[in-house]
Amino acid sequence: MEAAITAMYQRLHEKLRTTVPDAEIRIKARLAAEINRLKQERNAVILGHNYMEPALYHSIPDFQGDSLELCREAAKTDRDIIVFCGVRFMAETAKILNPERTVLLPSLEAGCSLAGSITAADVRALKMRYPGVPVVSYVNTYADVKAESTICCTSGNAAAVVESLGTDTVIFLPDEFLARNVARETGRHIIFPSAMSPAPAETELDVQMIGWRGRCEVHERFTTQDIANVRAQFPDAVILAHPECSPEVTAASDFSGSTGAMIRYVEQTKAPRYLLLTECAMGDNIAAANPDKEMLRLCSVRCPHMNQITLEDTLESLQHNRHIIDLPADIIERAAAAVERMIAVG
Ligand code: 13P
Ligand code: SF4
Repeated sequence: MEAAITAMYQRLHEKLRTTVPDAEIRIKARLAAEINRLKQERNAVILGHNYMEPALYHSIPDFQGDSLELCREAAKTDRDIIVFCGVRFMAETAKILNPERTVLLPSLEAGCSLAGSITAADVRALKMRYPGVPVVSYVNTYADVKAESTICCTSGNAAAVVESLGTDTVIFLPDEFLARNVARETGRHIIFPSAMSPAPAETELDVQMIGWRGRCEVHERFTTQDIANVRAQFPDAVILAHPECSPEVTAASDFSGSTGAMIRYVEQTKAPRYLLLTECAMGDNIAAANPDKEMLRLCSVRCPHMNQITLEDTLESLQHNRHIIDLPADIIERAAAAVERMIAVG
C-alpha cells in the first residue's frame, strides 16, 4: 500500500505542485490510493465530471468528461458498482442506463439549480398546453422529468437533438440560456410562456421553441462586462463560454461548447492565454493538464453542488455503499427511452 501511496503522491505532485500545498497533496494521495484499492476490490468504476476539484479529478476517476461523455461511459460499463463523482442528476442518469447495477453518489447535497427548477408536474402541464409537441429535456433534470420527456440532450448535442426531431415546434427544458443559445444556433423563434392557462394564446402558435426559465446559478453570473474587461487587459486571450451562459455572453466569446468541448478546444489551440466562463475547478484542471498555457482567473465561481463531492466522501461511499441511487422501475423505463434516444443522436 505504501508504494501505491508514493506513486499517487508523485502523480499528484507533478500535476498540482504549483496550485496545491504539499501537505494537502500528501493527505489526498493517501485517500486516493485507498479509494483506488477499494475500487478494484469492489469491482467499481468511478466516473468524474470535469468540475471535480483538481486532486480528485487527477487521481481516482476511470473516466473524466462532460455529461454526455460520462453518460456514454455509464452505458458501456460492466462493473458491479458505479460511483458518480458529479451531481445527483448525473448519478440518476447512470442508474437509468444501468438499472441492475449499484450506483453511488458520495454526497446527497450534490443537487443542481437547473434540475431543481422544474418538476414532472410542470412538464405535464406544458404537454397539456401544447399537445403533441415533443419535449426535449436537458440532462440537468431529475429522472421523473426525463420520464415525461421525448428525448434528452446535453450542452454538447442540444442543437443536433432539436433538429433530429424534424418538427416545427419543440418544448425545450429547463435552461433558459441554453434554450436561447440553441434557438439562435438553429434559427428558431423562442417564447417563455408565463401563465399556465390550459390553452396557448393565438400569438404563441407560430413559435418554434417553447422554453422554461431555469438558470444555472454559476453560469448566469458571467456578464459581457467581464469579457470586455478581460479583452481590454489581455487582448490575446481566447474566451470560452459554456452554453449555460447568457446568449449575450456566448456571442461575445470566441467559443462556446460543453465542458468536454472546451477542454479539447484549449488542447488544440496554440494561444498562450485563455479565459473560461464556467465553473472554476475546470480551469484548475485544464491548467494542470496544460502547464504551457495560462488560464486567467477572472473570478472563482465554484458550483456549490459539485463542491460537495470530496475524496473523503468518495472513500466513505465505497466503504459503506453510500448513497445508493434508487428510482422507481416505471420512471427508469420511461426516462431510459429519452436518454437512449439522445445517445442514438450522438
Ligand atoms: P457539461 O454537459 O458541459 O459537462 O455541463 C454540465 C453542467 O452541469 C454544466 O454546468
Ligand atoms: Fe447545475 Fe450549474 Fe452546478 Fe452545473 S454548474 S451542476 S448546471 S448548478
